[in-house]
Amino acid sequence: MSDDLKRLAALAALEEIRNGMVVGLGTGSTAAHFIRELGARVRDGLNIVAIPSSEASREMAEQGGIRLTTLGEHPHINVTVDGADEVSPQLDLTKGLGGALVREKVVAHASERVVIIVDEGKIVEKLGSRAVIPVEVVPFAVDFVIHRLSAWGGLPRVREKDGKVFVSDNGNYVIDWKYGPLDQPALVEKQIKSVTGVVDSGLFCQVAQLVIVAGSGGIRKMVRDTSYGI
Ligand code: A5P
Repeated sequence: MSDDLKRLAALAALEEIRNGMVVGLGTGSTAAHFIRELGARVRDGLNIVAIPSSEASREMAEQGGIRLTTLGEHPHINVTVDGADEVSPQLDLTKGLGGALVREKVVAHASERVVIIVDEGKIVEKLGSRAVIPVEVVPFAVDFVIHRLSAWGGLPRVREKDGKVFVSDNGNYVIDWKYGPLDQPALVEKQIKSVTGVVDSGLFCQVAQLVIVAGSGGIRKMVRDTSYGI
């Protein structure tokens, strides 16, 4: 997605923010636009506190003058704005190519409202069609989890960065599981989480309420249908 589209989506998400809110800050290049724009509003007088989902987002927020807080002080987040790697028509997500999936999921689950900002290229019919499924594991369990995921199919690989094993902000490893399109992502999310040694996965099912999609034709909003109790 071009930087302009990322910024467009981020600006649209600012409409969700009001004075006095506790705001969850996502991670990644699209979320970075949101943090930058939010910082500008704060410097213009907007009064909010924020909880970042990664060290990178914490640094950005601090540089932008955004007052930070913790889940200890504010266990209830009003709204979180984050990016995603894939979005399904049901508004389920694949996240974590940036490696911040666990803190992102904690922040999202602590939020009353989760707003996702993406470009139209991230919309897929089925999760797993384009992106791998990131799985964060405690380092001791990495081979055990790879073995378990292999038995289920697909190709799990330990993520590397700059020729070294990637280590998350939590001191863990990430396995990128190339599986292919998922028919029942919510079930797979639960199944992955049930493996001992797994901290969590990048499947975020039934978490987003609103997805703001930026495209060449402008902004489109996808709202999660909860009429069937989903
Ligand atoms: C970070 O861990 C990820 O979940 C990101 O939110 C996701 O990868 C989207 O990143 P971009 O906005 O950079 O595409």
